[in-house]
Amino acid sequence: MRHSPSGAHVESAVQPRSLPSLAYDGACRVLSGNWTGSSTVPSRALYPHQWSWDSGFIAIGLRHVSPARAQRELETLFAAQWADGRVPHIVFNPEIPLGAYFPSPDFWRSSAAGDKAGAPASVETSGVVQPPVHALAAWLVHQADPAASARRGFLRRLYPRLVAWQRYLTGPRDLGGHGLAAIVHPWESGMDNSPCWDPPLARISPAASGSFHRADLDHGCRADRPTDLDYGRYVRLAGSYRDRGYEDRPGTHPFAVEDPAFNALLIASEYALADIAAALGDEAADPAEHLVRAESLTWALVSRLWSEEEGLFLCRDVLADERLPQRSAAGLLPLVLPGLPEEVAAALLRTARGPHFGLGGPARLVPSYDLTGSGFDPARYWRGPAWFNVNWLLERGMRLHGADLTADALRAEMLRAAVASDFAEYVDPFSGKARGTRDFSWTAALTLDLSLAKDRAGHAGSPTAGVASR
Ligand code: SER
Repeated sequence: MRHSPSGAHVESAVQPRSLPSLAYDGACRVLSGNWTGSSTVPSRALYPHQWSWDSGFIAIGLRHVSPARAQRELETLFAAQWADGRVPHIVFNPEIPLGAYFPSPDFWRSSAAGDKAGAPASVETSGVVQPPVHALAAWLVHQADPAASARRGFLRRLYPRLVAWQRYLTGPRDLGGHGLAAIVHPWESGMDNSPCWDPPLARISPAASGSFHRADLDHGCRADRPTDLDYGRYVRLAGSYRDRGYEDRPGTHPFAVEDPAFNALLIASEYALADIAAALGDEAADPAEHLVRAESLTWALVSRLWSEEEGLFLCRDVLADERLPQRSAAGLLPLVLPGLPEEVAAALLRTARGPHFGLGGPARLVPSYDLTGSGFDPARYWRGPAWFNVNWLLERGMRLHGADLTADALRAEMLRAAVASDFAEYVDPFSGKARGTRDFSWTAALTLDLSLAKDRAGHAGSPTAGVASR
């Protein structure tokens, strides 16, 4: 049984509710509750504005219940794009009080401080970015209702903006000079306090603790959130980027890292741009150009970040010109790429199931960080808990590389964990216990997507995979 957030439905009196059906209904409730009229907040209390990569994942789920809303989600985000092509990681809602979230618009001061970099005058945003999942999301959203998308000119209007976004990342953000994009702040990875950032972040002196108020601690549990020391460093880095006019001249960034997850999504989006260009079918959009770029970026990713010894992609500190030894789930995410050498894909699958990530063993979902690493913490933000977007991408990558049974098992665990945790922001990777905030939008959106997915046997979900087993 399927029904829309607002639609009526007839409940079967005799059938127990299947897990996919429970997940679908719960996810629709969360997404309805977090919709603002033009976009979706990740969480009403903790994140009351629009976030960039959240919106990409949210659109991927929303497309199943409202392709029009999913299109709007991405259009609202791209309306705040800067003239240099960057898509800011937060678009602020002016109706939300300044104290509800930090750093607030009066910290970033985008329209004034970002003037030279082309920040829009009509809306306040942050000045850093998040991983570029957007072209992939736009292509999936289009496919949900191609006729309506064509009627609204969805791809035609969005394509030039998506291209400008990708070119910002492969142009001004190629700080290492080998084609890959570099992040200039841990927030840009989306995996804010991953232990991978500890060494490059140690070079940054933190902003004084009394100089800002952490609004996140008004809504979240301290043990689940980054430490004050890390937060002070985030604030210092963001403030100094702002004070340099958000400019990307090489040699000016005190933090510059090539991250395998960020670049994997960049490449996946380049493949999606090839699909979009083909669908548009006109001279202004050349699929071949995107394919060539996707392949050469894949080559750069493997040659710069692949570690054969670890069976994992590692981050590269551009300033120190060395790979960082920390093993994070970011290093598994290139599995989403179709052009990965077969032996690399096979090694990534082994690593996901091995002692560091424990899938199919002690871990129910893939943790964000190495289970054996000294920085591992099963509760704290990106230092160990399992996140649904990471696991969703891995599930997709597993299917792409033929590991359907592993993907089926992971999908069932994700549905169970999402329903049992009230769509938590993240969960303990061993127990599935909820961490962070609840009713989190991308958890709902990606669960919704998985609840409709076909398993290897060809039907949506498993009627026997009930939550009663938990
Ligand atoms: N994810 C960050 C936060 O916790 C920054 O966007 O607020």
